[in-house]
Amino acid sequence: MRKFDDPNEIIVAPSVLAADWSRLAEEAARAIRSGADWLHLDVMDGHFVDNISFGPQFVQTLASTNDFFYDVHLMIERPDRYLERFIKAGADNLTVHVEADHDVAESLRRIRAAGVGAGLAMRPETDFSRVEPYLDQIDLLLVMTVVPGFGGQKFMLETMPSLVAAKKIREAKGLRFHLEVDGGVYEDTARTAREHGANVLVAGTAAFGAPDMAAAVRALRGG
Ligand code: DX5
Ligand code: ZN
Repeated sequence: MRKFDDPNEIIVAPSVLAADWSRLAEEAARAIRSGADWLHLDVMDGHFVDNISFGPQFVQTLASTNDFFYDVHLMIERPDRYLERFIKAGADNLTVHVEADHDVAESLRRIRAAGVGAGLAMRPETDFSRVEPYLDQIDLLLVMTVVPGFGGQKFMLETMPSLVAAKKIREAKGLRFHLEVDGGVYEDTARTAREHGANVLVAGTAAFGAPDMAAAVRALRGG
């Protein structure tokens, strides 16, 4: 899979949480046919978020069905215990939460040492100052635009200043991390996110839930 390392390239990443799980291989193929760039996989442990989704075996199964770019989002309390298992399962980018119970710098270092993109995520209520110290150690910053745990929620505009602040630092320091948004991303909120600096657009309902997924992917990309 080609590396995506241009933070100005618009990347559309449908979230599998909103796919038909009884037909996973076909759903992944449908997303690829529809022009998506990545598949976003939301891992939830029932502790860090009030929901449980799937684990490494699910990711491995899905990744074995289609040669694609798998963007794994760990909404789990102890990501340090699972990094190698998700890397082995096929993660191309692996994102950990700054609020989780682990040594953030060490987790990011281990992910990069495995040749996998290192992502850092922040919840909407988290202060930007908590992620700032790590911006030179990541390949992607995920600014959650909903409270993590469920699809189908409303985009939170109050998260946009974090995107702006991150982009400013990225440019000032000559860094190259992607800026990703996740949750409540539709055509209109995707435009707002792009205007504030996001280049990776995660969409569950708006993508897998759309009658015409290719049209939805084009709309998220900005036409
Ligand atoms: C929520 C997940 C999101 C979610 C997106 O915790 O991280 O990726 O699936 O759902 P939509 O796009 O339906 O709001
Ligand atoms: Zn997600």
